[in-house]
Formats: sequence, C-alpha cells, structure tokens
Amino acid sequence: MTQDVQTASAVSPKPHVGPDDYPKMYEASVSDPDGFWGEHGKRIDWIKPYTKVKNTSFTPGNIDIRWFEDGTLNVSANCVDRHLETRGDQTAIIWEPDNPADPALHITYRDLHASVCKMANVLKDLGIEKGDRVIIYLPMIPEAAYAMLACARIGAIHSIVFAGFSPDALGARINGCDAKLVITADYAPRGGRETPLKSNTDTALLHCKDSVNCLVVKRTGGQTTWTDRDHDCNALMAEAAPECPVQVMNAEDPLFILYTSGSTGQPKGVVHCTGGYLVYASMTHEIVFDYHEGDIFWCTADVGWVTGHSYIVYGPLANGATTIMFEGVPTFPDAGRFWEVCAKHKVNQFYTAPTAIRALMGAGSEWVEKHDLSDLRILGSVGEPINPEAWNWYNDVVGKGKCPIVDTFWQTETGGHMLTPLPGASKLKPGAAQQPFFGVQPVVLEPTSGDIIEGNGVEGVLCIRDSWPGQMRTVWGDHERFEKTYFSDYKGYYFSGDGCRRDEDGDYWITGRVDDVINVSGHRMGTAEVESALVAHAKVAEAAVVGYPHEVKGQGIYAYVTLMQGEEPSDDLRKELEKWVRTEIGPIAKPDLIQWAPGLPKTRSGKIMRRILRKIAEDDFGALGDTSTLADPSVVDDLIANRMNRS
Ligand code: PRX
Repeated sequence: MTQDVQTASAVSPKPHVGPDDYPKMYEASVSDPDGFWGEHGKRIDWIKPYTKVKNTSFTPGNIDIRWFEDGTLNVSANCVDRHLETRGDQTAIIWEPDNPADPALHITYRDLHASVCKMANVLKDLGIEKGDRVIIYLPMIPEAAYAMLACARIGAIHSIVFAGFSPDALGARINGCDAKLVITADYAPRGGRETPLKSNTDTALLHCKDSVNCLVVKRTGGQTTWTDRDHDCNALMAEAAPECPVQVMNAEDPLFILYTSGSTGQPKGVVHCTGGYLVYASMTHEIVFDYHEGDIFWCTADVGWVTGHSYIVYGPLANGATTIMFEGVPTFPDAGRFWEVCAKHKVNQFYTAPTAIRALMGAGSEWVEKHDLSDLRILGSVGEPINPEAWNWYNDVVGKGKCPIVDTFWQTETGGHMLTPLPGASKLKPGAAQQPFFGVQPVVLEPTSGDIIEGNGVEGVLCIRDSWPGQMRTVWGDHERFEKTYFSDYKGYYFSGDGCRRDEDGDYWITGRVDDVINVSGHRMGTAEVESALVAHAKVAEAAVVGYPHEVKGQGIYAYVTLMQGEEPSDDLRKELEKWVRTEIGPIAKPDLIQWAPGLPKTRSGKIMRRILRKIAEDDFGALGDTSTLADPSVVDDLIANRMNRS
C-alpha cells in the first residue's frame, strides 16, 4: 500500500526536492560532504564564514566531531535579528494557551527581538556569562522561547527540563550540569490542571548549591513562596533594555544540553553545538515539511523534548517561519482541540506523535470533521513507529488523502531528521521512515557479529556510517560515556539503539529499540531509571521493568516487583509505588502494570533474564526459549500464572 505523493494535491507546486532531484542530491551529499555542506551551510548567517567544513572521526579512542569549525555565528541573530528587515512585522510565534477561552498571542519578529534582548539583559544582570549553564523549567509559554534565544544570544548553554519532571529529576539536572540559574514559572497550566513549578523548583534547590539563582515568570499569578535566591522575571524584563548585542560564538561552542534516558540508570546530557545543529535543523525543517514563505507551522511537541527544540524554535525561526507554541494537550477541553487550533490559525504543516493520533482516532472522526482543515498541506509523525491503522486514519480523516505524511525517524542525539520521506519526492508507505536525509548513511548490521548486511529485504540493527552536521558532540562532562554508548558496540559506526528492516525497495522501517530503553507515548524511558526509583522505596527488595505493547502509548511500563521480607502485596501498596515513581521521576514514568514477583528469573550467575520477562509482559509466553540456565525455573511458572497483561 503506497500513497503517491506526486498526485497528493496538497503538496506545494514547488517542493524543494523533486523525485528526480533526490537521488542526485543524496549522492552528492555522501560522495562529497565537504562540497555539499559547504554550500548548504550558507543558508544561515555567519559572522566569520567557515573555511573548513567537515572534520569528524568515528575511530575508537578518537571520537571527534566538528563541523564548520573555524566559522563564527550567533543562533539568536539567525533566528531573530536577521528577519527584522524583511519580516519584522510578520508573526514569529503564535501562542495558543491551554484554555481555548483565553486569547492567543501573535508575537512578531520585532516583538520577539525586544523580548529576547530584555531577557538576555536580565540574565546578564544575574551574572550569567558565556559558557554558563541555565536550566529552563517552564510551561509552554513564549518566555520558554525567549529564554532559549536569550541564552543563545549571550552564549549561555541552556538545558530544558520538561515541566512534567519531578523535583528530584530537576535537581539531578541542575547539579548534573552545575547550572547557575533556573528559569521557572509559578504554575504550569496543562489540560485544565496546574503543576506547581515554583514549588517543585524550591524542593529541587534544597539539594543544590546555595549560589543557584531562580528567575520566576508569572504565568497564573497563583501563590508561591519567595526566597532570597528568587528574582521576578516580569518586573526585571519590564525594566530591561530592548537591545542586547549578540555574543560571537564558534560553530563548535555548545548551544544546549538536553538530558535523555539511556539503558543505564543515569540520564545523559546530550550536547548540541551552534553551527552544525542550526544548519541541520533549519534545512530539515524547510525540506522535510515542504516549508514555504508565509506558511503556518505547528509542531505539537513540548520544548522540553528535542522535537520542540528543533521544530518549534530553532528550525522554524531560523527559516523566518510562523511557528505555533501550544500550551495544552490534545484532549482538553475535548478531543477536537488539535483540529480547532489547526482551523483557527490556518495551519499548513502539522507535526505530532503516533500516540496522540491513536488517542484522537479512538475519540472518533467526528471531532475532526467539525473543523475546516483545508489549509493543511503536510502531516508529520515522530517519536515511535506509526502503525498502519493510525497512519491510514491520519491520512484519510485528517489529511483527506491529499496531504503527504512524513514519518520522521530521529533522536535527541541526532539533532534533526535522519530517515524520512520527502514530500513531492517519495511514494509513501504507511509505517516506514523510508529514506535517509541528505548526508545520512544508514547501515544495517548483524546484531551479534556487527557485520554489514548488504542488499534489500534484510533486518538488523541500525547504525550510521559517517557524521552529519546535527549530530550530538559529546555527553556533558563525560566524553568517555559518549564513546561507550554510541561507538563501542559497533566500532566505526554511530549506533542508534534501534532495530530496522530494509525492505525489497530499499526503504527503511524502524522496528523499535534493541536496548533497555522503552518508548512510552513517544518519550524515551530507560528501564533502569524506573527500576532504581522502585528499589529506592523502603518496601521494595528488587524490581525489573520491561515494555509491553500498549494500544495508545505504543509501549507501556510493566514492572515486576519483589517486596522486602515481611511486606504484603496489596492494592494500596501498588498505588503507593505508582505515586512513588511519579514523585521520583515524573508522571511519564509511572508503571502501567505492577506484578508482584516472589522471585525474578535469573541465571546461575545472578543475571536477570529480561527476555523472559518481556515475553510474559507481552502475554506471549508460549515460546520462552531455553530456560534451562535459570537458577530456579519454577519462578517462571509463578510469573506466568499471575501475569497482569492478558489479551
Ligand atoms: O526508537 C526511536 C524512536 O524514538 C527514539 C528517540 O527518542 P527521543 O530521543 O526521545 O527522540 C524522539 C523524537 C525525535 C528512537 O531511537 N523514534 C523516533 N522517531 C521514530 C521512532 N521510531 C520509529 N519511527 C519514527 N518516526
């Protein structure tokens, strides 16, 4: 089943890449990366143009990635100042609040410039200098974009913590990058409820250095406590000058750190740098979404995730687009909210996650049909494989069969899209991320031997042969971990952590993570992180966490919990543990199912056999494979008998 996008009437009359252009451009991008990126790097403004383009090494012991390394630029100048002359009065950001009864804001590039400069001056007055780290823990309000761009303007490195994360998770990130300042708000309204961000921050800061300052934005005006380290953002911005010179940054100076879950307990600080990241974010935004001057672009992600960094803020604003920032959720006040916002703001490109599509599909097509979606041209999907049923509903009901769907595969680490169809150039296949973006060289490796699998109709693990400009540069403060995580299993390649299939036509299909990372509603969660939260509870002796198929979330979190001697399982204890994980990490980490396990299946050397736990969680225990190496095979019978997921 394919959708012929060349006949999909909604694609613009002039897609940036036509069907004949793709193979030629792709070939040029991989055979002569210096020539290709040397040319495309010029799409952004440089203070001092680069003379060197690519200088990268995936060699074990010397993982070193540099792009445009002798060029200088400023990201804030690229996303704001350079548009003032040509489109100062054009809307840069449309802010759509949580409550549809409240008015939307239309922020022009000129307004954006003034607000970013004011915020930058406030940061400077608080002693923030080039290279300092600033944590942003904000709702989806314009101040989040101002804060990002203000940091970029003065050369500070921002690290956004999703507003759904707990005080503990926030504190770990403040300490992890030794931040000087946290920017937060009083409350974060979302879906009609309010998260007390300021009070969460106060709790987090109890475990941080006294010198960390806190800049507080007023969102709801709700009551908060005030301490000596707090500063009133609104009052300071009102006094601040609306002009602030930009800091000259080297292309390889860090732009931001974003913490993400891995297969070990500790989230890692993914570092993205200034030049290559911006070139890649802006180019993928323009080409993959068929973006043209005047389009209204909406990515429904939160700026707390990489999708929000690259496709709400940096990519669209570098391209002079109008980008929507949405504070709410898809189902508040009802399941028509996304479509109401699309109609209200005449959205041309709409980019969301399969989990939202599945939830809205479940609510019924009538919610879509109430609204005029005739301005939509391109639909996008990101975060997890999209199942054909959801793809077809998205295509038929939302896109009316005329909007190409770009299923974009990428990661926090990659900075921008890696595998994706291109509107106007690809025949679409529901569920396939299809083909590499320019400069990306996917390879399929045999998981155990690491040998390259050539040809089509094959399956293995997905690695990337060479660097691309948007690639992360290091793990904050731990370059060794960077090498160990991404370059040591398969030497000479970047290892994505995903499995994939290359079909008979040479198109790529992502089959899901092959490490101990699960994908819950398009968000990454390391099973080890949830396990360490569980075992930190006084009544828990041991825990093992795996993913299982979940109708809406893609994967759900299934926890096997062994209690301390003398503790009795109960529904109350189950609720207590759910609440515990919510407070330790955040609501996204709450286990969907908790099974009381008198014992866990272990090898004689004490290693937990996760393969078996996964099978039981999937309710597919007919073929458990070899269990003869288990120390106590009877444990498995008990787990099967008391399994929680019965389809
Ligand atoms: O497993 C892949 C899945 O999401 C992981 C990356 O998660 P994160 O760093 O949080 O970034 C999500 C948004 C870019 C990947 O390793 N993933 C992401 N997009 C897709 C996907 N799986 C299948 N198809 C996709 N389009």
